Amino acid sequence: MTPSPTALAAFRAAKGFMPEEEGLALYGAAREAAHRLGLPLLEVGSYCGRSTILLADAAREAGTVAVTVDHHRGSEEQQPGWEYHDPELVDQAPGVQRIDTLPTFRRTLHTAGLEAHVVAVVGRSPQVAALWNTPLSLVFIDGGHTDEHATGDYEGWAPHVAPGGLLVIHDVFPDPADGGQAPYRVHRRALASGAFAEVSATRSLRVLRRTGDGV
Ligand SMILES: C[S@@+](CC[C@H](N)C(=O)[O-])C[C@H]1O[C@@H](n2cnc3c(N)ncnc32)[C@H](O)[C@@H]1O
Repeated sequence: MTPSPTALAAFRAAKGFMPEEEGLALYGAAREAAHRLGLPLLEVGSYCGRSTILLADAAREAGTVAVTVDHHRGSEEQQPGWEYHDPELVDQAPGVQRIDTLPTFRRTLHTAGLEAHVVAVVGRSPQVAALWNTPLSLVFIDGGHTDEHATGDYEGWAPHVAPGGLLVIHDVFPDPADGGQAPYRVHRRALASGAFAEVSATRSLRVLRRTGDGV
């Protein structure tokens, strides 16, 4: 299962943090879950839309929708002076001077021809999750990578994964030398809960299936 040629080309051209091998694994999981359950897909961490393209293409193919949540002000490591800062994404309006990934995100989805299959929610993940009441085929966690944010994403969104649905976590690094540990701790917590079992691992992308109640 691969994305449409248009979606794949748009994915390759988009700014973002999703390597292609992991992106193809995400697409495969999203398409399988959306077909099997017929429920929406949800992403935390839209950034400029790179991974959203893949969820949107899977949603299009399965006749559902991809919801993606981001405040569009960037994570800690994307702020000025940090490793993943991109000066092109700073809103230069007088008195603003803050990261704003929303315009680039919108352009990415328009170029990919997938706007009709995406609901973009601009807001903080825990605040949006507190309002949420719809079961999901798949939750993809790729938001803030501090313990506070990764834990908040897990506690806010994992309860909405439908029975048999998938929980996908990005940037899971068992070895601290490879990257931050917060997503890894969330991954371990999900497995320890007894509510999720691992389906696949593609580099740092982990796909888990809901096999029990709770989180
Ligand atoms: C690693 S980037 C996402 C990368 C994207 N999935 C891709 O494929 O390129 C993380 C994103 O999460 C967003 N973010 C961080 N903490 C958040 C929070 N608490 N609520 C909403 N968005 C958040 C940031 O604004 C940033 O755009």
